[in-house]
Amino acid sequence: MNLRFSLNGEQTALDVSPWRRLLDVLREDLALTGTKEGCGEGECGACTVLVDGEAVCSCLVAAGQVEGREVRTVEGLGDGAVARAVREELVSFGGTQCGICTPGIAVCAVRALEREPDASRDRLRELLAGNICRCTGYQLIVDALECAAARGRGEGAE
Ligand code: FES
Ligand code: FES
Repeated sequence: MNLRFSLNGEQTALDVSPWRRLLDVLREDLALTGTKEGCGEGECGACTVLVDGEAVCSCLVAAGQVEGREVRTVEGLGDGAVARAVREELVSFGGTQCGICTPGIAVCAVRALEREPDASRDRLRELLAGNICRCTGYQLIVDALECAAARGRGEGAE
């Protein structure tokens, strides 16, 4: 099919089987390799992208399902205060090690903090519950996101 959708704010069209996984189309056809594959079964969250603003596992989405919709990947999170804070604090706290989970966590965290800027530490854990990390033990990720949330509210250093 001639698939048309908005990708990171730009109208995109490509000939692709509607049955291919969105994850593969993003990585292989569109060279957006920030989106990672972990489990390939909808369990780990590494492949998370936003479709019409909702977090979805791109390994479970058929390309044809995004026809006419808006897709945002980790590459398209932009340079707003929240996105910048999430990126910088994940790095500065050491909340990223092998990095496979990191893009999915960044996507979910930016979406979560844009919607719930006052999210508590416990709430941040809930919001990121679908993102599995085998390396960090989560503590440093939550530390980073708590700091990013404060910065997003204008409470921390910019
Ligand atoms: S790769 Fe999609 S949820 Fe794990
Ligand atoms: S940093 Fe390796 S899976 Fe999270």
